[in-house]
Amino acid sequence: MRSPRIAVVYYSATGNVASMAHAVAAGAEAAGAEVRVRRVAETAPEEAIASNPRWQAFVDATRDDVAALDDLSWADGLAFGSPTRFGGPASQLKAFLDTTGGLWFSGVLATKACTSFTTASTGHGGLESTILAMNNHFYHWGSVIVPLGYADGHIARVTGNPYGASWVSRSGSTPDGDCLEACRIQGRRLAVVAGKLSNNE
Ligand SMILES: Cc1cc2nc3c(=O)[nH]c(=O)nc-3n(C[C@H](O)[C@H](O)[C@H](O)COP(=O)(O)O)c2cc1C
Repeated sequence: MRSPRIAVVYYSATGNVASMAHAVAAGAEAAGAEVRVRRVAETAPEEAIASNPRWQAFVDATRDDVAALDDLSWADGLAFGSPTRFGGPASQLKAFLDTTGGLWFSGVLATKACTSFTTASTGHGGLESTILAMNNHFYHWGSVIVPLGYADGHIARVTGNPYGASWVSRSGSTPDGDCLEACRIQGRRLAVVAGKLSNNE
């Protein structure tokens, strides 16, 4: 039996999703997985990025490699993260997902376990709609969707949202310890399910 392979693929402008992505990765690693964390390419114009100091600082500081289709083929389990943008995922992540036609056609994505997570500035600003929109790709790929659920008491008692880890970044706040724990739980759960799937092929 080999260790499950997990790819965490995300878009982030001001760093919230990036911290969540690294916590998902840490949870998967703690469950024994080999993990890649990848950001999708930034496509916004330089002037737009420069107009927001937090965005510019994040772009300057990001060291994660850019996601490639090979990361999806390599992994047994995939976690996708995006900020909520007008109730759905950011176009940067959607653009990457829209390059998966060849992988979809070959059927390799149908054997993967997939999950997603997000952040929005308000609690009713579209957390679930963003997660569900990301998950739509998984239905088309034929993947096994891994919801966060309430399998761990932390989700039921503290953070809620069985759809996937989520953070309300009201007033510019960054993901707190409870949110990052939910992310670690999601990463661990993904690794466990992906491990069962990959070792039973
Ligand atoms: C263009 C744009 C659209 C957004 N749309 C929403 C939205 O629909 N609902 C919401 O609550 N927050 C919305 N936000 C806020 C972001 O989702 C929020 O700040 C998030 O935490 C940013 O994550 P990041 O730091 O990883 O980029 C929007 C932000 C931008 C820039």
